[in-house]
Amino acid sequence: MYNQFFKPFPTISAPRITLRRITMKDLTPLYDACSDPSSSRYSGWYPHVDKSDTAAFIRYLNKSYRRNKLFTFGIIENKLGCLIGTISVVNINPEYTIAEIGYTVSSKYRRKGYTGESARALIDYLVKVVGIKRVEAKVLPENEASRKLLESLGFKIEAFQKNGAVIRGEIKDCCLYSYIPE
Ligand SMILES: CC(C)(COP(=O)(O)OP(=O)(O)OC[C@H]1O[C@@H](n2cnc3c(N)ncnc32)[C@H](O)[C@@H]1OP(=O)(O)O)[C@@H](O)C(=O)NCCC(=O)NCCS
Repeated sequence: MYNQFFKPFPTISAPRITLRRITMKDLTPLYDACSDPSSSRYSGWYPHVDKSDTAAFIRYLNKSYRRNKLFTFGIIENKLGCLIGTISVVNINPEYTIAEIGYTVSSKYRRKGYTGESARALIDYLVKVVGIKRVEAKVLPENEASRKLLESLGFKIEAFQKNGAVIRGEIKDCCLYSYIPE
């Protein structure tokens, strides 16, 4: 059933950004985003050390997409025509009513509204096209940028989950946010 909405890989357009499938042509800008330690500080992955890490990551994204496990879009800045970050549907239930999202943007493009615009466009697609009734996001309590971003998008905190996340092998508390469309 996923095929109906994610195959072929959708392209989602918004005024300043386009969300589309990531390919090997995005290697350099994706490496720039993923090698910056601030991009993964609050996530489960490690900064990319060289471009072979990023190439392996792109292969992993393609494999996960084929297996309907993970749908990661490149965030393309329309004027630059270049990838500036990623936004993913990291979990979707078999009935496709619940989806979890995650995102990261290169540090030089932060606080310019790009992730907000990307998340709005992706959520709009999930709600109107896929029929998602609940969007979730899990955030470490100390990740203020991500928490504020979610709140600005209309997400509400539902739970403080003790031992709710594993970050690089370490068990951490986390905040569960949800967005329920009208
Ligand atoms: C979280 C992150 C994706 C935000 O991306 P961004 O493109 O800077 O976000 P936006 O510019 O769209 O911000 C939208 C709103 O979110 C809030 N916000 C974003 N960054 C913030 C920060 N550093 N401090 C406080 N509020 C912040 C603000 O309300 C902002 O609106 P405003 O700029 O008009 O005040 C970015 O900081 C990032 O890539 N962090 C590293 C990866 C990460 O932590 N991912 C999430 C894992 S759960």
